[in-house]
Amino acid sequence: QSVREKYRPAFHFTPKAHWMNDPNGMVYLNGKYHLFFQYNPDSTVWGPMHWGHAISKDMIHWKEQPIALYPDSLGTIFSGSAVIDKDNTAGFGKNAMVAIFTHHNKKIEDQKTGLHQNQSLAYSLDEGQTWRKYKGNPVLPNPGIWDFRDPKVMWHPATGKWVMTLATKDRITFYSSSDLKKWTKESEFGEKLGAHGGVWECPDLFPLELNGKTHWVLLVSINPGGPNGGSATQYFTGDFDGKTFKPDSEKQKWMDYGTDNYAGVTFSNTGARKVLMGWMNNWNYANVVPTDSWRGATTLPRDLILKSVGEEIYLTSVPITELSDLQKVALERKGLKGINSLDLSAGLKEGKGTKIELQVNSPGDFSINLGDGKNQKLIIGFEQNKGYFIDRSNAGNGEFEKNFAKRHFSPRISNADYKKIVIFIDAASVELFADDGLTTMTEIFFPIQKNTLLEIESPQKIDVPMVKVSTIAHIKY
Ligand code: FRU
Repeated sequence: QSVREKYRPAFHFTPKAHWMNDPNGMVYLNGKYHLFFQYNPDSTVWGPMHWGHAISKDMIHWKEQPIALYPDSLGTIFSGSAVIDKDNTAGFGKNAMVAIFTHHNKKIEDQKTGLHQNQSLAYSLDEGQTWRKYKGNPVLPNPGIWDFRDPKVMWHPATGKWVMTLATKDRITFYSSSDLKKWTKESEFGEKLGAHGGVWECPDLFPLELNGKTHWVLLVSINPGGPNGGSATQYFTGDFDGKTFKPDSEKQKWMDYGTDNYAGVTFSNTGARKVLMGWMNNWNYANVVPTDSWRGATTLPRDLILKSVGEEIYLTSVPITELSDLQKVALERKGLKGINSLDLSAGLKEGKGTKIELQVNSPGDFSINLGDGKNQKLIIGFEQNKGYFIDRSNAGNGEFEKNFAKRHFSPRISNADYKKIVIFIDAASVELFADDGLTTMTEIFFPIQKNTLLEIESPQKIDVPMVKVSTIAHIKY
């Protein structure tokens, strides 16, 4: 393993080379998932944005494709979405793959008119291999709003229209269209609701069922202003009639309390199933993380599922079951009572990812430690008074940004007596799904030494009815 590839993930998508940020245009068509992404093909830092492209049959094994969208006279290509136009509403062709994205124009930006971000279309008639920009671009010109971007478009069956959810500075603006080309403003949401520690970006709106009732979920990424600093994604549940979003509550919830799940949105054309992938990074340090030939990765794909706890509705994140093909149980223990520690190191295999499943049936603090046996240690755990946490204070190289090396908490939402947690560890990332995804934390970390020790630790005696460590095979890019 070369030094260059040290942090190359085993089971997450990264571009072969150079910079990526947000996942874009995620869409399913004819047995294949398409992932487009914010891509700078000339550098490992952010710059003139293109849409990179990758294809997968299972959202895990990705094959990178030629660049899909290049900058043009209207600007570079910022984030957006893609839909399958089954009824040829736009006239590009039946089942055309249509990308709706933000054109970002640097020259206009420098003039400070605020007119530099506009929504445009491109389409592909060969499953995303070749693309044409629509001649009538932009289809939604800027009315004078500095941050006017990241269109997420969906078909709204009840009104028979396309709906665009757009991030417009400190709020969301909804538009509708019958042909993807002419857009009518319907309403605004959120100026006085939710978190406002930063600009609103990369929204998504979709329905999910809970106990036979349809609820609408509105995701809004925000940067900065996340619960543990920098970038994060808040969400609202409520009702949407094709024009207006009515939230259940004035207060937002957070989809992921970790520092590194940003700009996540769901695939389109997947029916009732909603699968999200985010960019596993944070604008606080994305440009300086210590990878070499590439920068940026996606999170694990997660099924989004609603659950109620008391009177409240929550969005849970559950790693997709497609991932289980890569897993092999390495170690399993059952029915442990009154333990303070347990060595799980035999479950670690070099060059592979690690999945840890654990149930703890006792109150009080506990942690799972992954380390080199000396000073390096990643700690994932639970504190009775503060909730779940990931501690990357001493997990490796954290020097590139002053606030990187910290312990981050997430409140526990479940009120079940026992705690059930699932952890996925890759070369430079940890994803924690607690209580069936009610609490989720995604964080990156950069070990310097090899981590060869894995253990459960607790200051008091705990009952552990089940602990399982599995290896996760390396995907071929
Ligand atoms: C979010 C974001 C988007 C924008 C893109 C530019 O990370 O800032 O709002 O479209 O990245 O690369």
